[in-house]
Amino acid sequence: MKQDIRNIVILTGAGISAESGLATFRGPEGLWEGHRVEDVCTPEALAHNPALVHRFYDERRARLADVVPNAAHDALAALDRAWTGELLIVTQNVDDLHERAGARRLIHMHGELNSALCAACGNAVAWSVDLPPESRCDACGQPRLRPDIVFFGEMPYQMDRIDVALRAADLFVSIGTSGAVYPAAGFVQTARHAGARTLELNLDPSAGSDYFEESRLGAASLLVPDMVRTLLA
Ligand code: OAD
Repeated sequence: MKQDIRNIVILTGAGISAESGLATFRGPEGLWEGHRVEDVCTPEALAHNPALVHRFYDERRARLADVVPNAAHDALAALDRAWTGELLIVTQNVDDLHERAGARRLIHMHGELNSALCAACGNAVAWSVDLPPESRCDACGQPRLRPDIVFFGEMPYQMDRIDVALRAADLFVSIGTSGAVYPAAGFVQTARHAGARTLELNLDPSAGSDYFEESRLGAASLLVPDMVRTLLA
């Protein structure tokens, strides 16, 4: 796999954090920790029931203290440290396990639990405790701080930078994502059209499995260290 590979883009999803003990989004019955995604992950939900939405993300943020990165996060961090070519890890996850493992070349395209965003002025600030509705923004003073999560219907972060990396990629790898949510689900096609080799590592075939040249099925904690060993050999 290693021949002629210099630029790598890696997309991760909830499956890479599953073995750390964090629930995936589309578990049995399609619920996320007992909630329909549209009840906690839309601008409408935030407008109509801010207490529920804030409490939901407070619980997810508090849960981060109980979990640690697993072998898959560790392997990607090791790749980030050792890879001398271009590398970009794009995660859809809002947990902080990639950075706690030591990954640095990382984009949180769907936001972060450990960040609060001002709905009035757009200022984002590091936030690691509960975030009550109507918390005030230090920058503009408005009581409009909300979880810094990209809700359905909102634009994911740093799409321009991701697009540039995908078009320059020699290898695109997708790990632990169901391929159900765009634009991330379309990254494989962008990279492939630009000439990248494409590899999927997932427990089950994803919705976009057919777009990948190669699909390896299994647990991320086994498949990802294996891939990194090959790349660094
Ligand atoms: P999903 O819950 O949709 O998919 C998780 C995928 O991980 C599934 O395909 C599982 O088969 C796979 N999986 C589970 N355990 C695994 C393991 N141990 N090793 C490898 N794979 C495993 O999660 P995402 O695709 O990340 O958006 O969901 C995408 C987006 O939908 C999320 O970022 C979130 C949600 O709405 C926002 O919050 C904006």
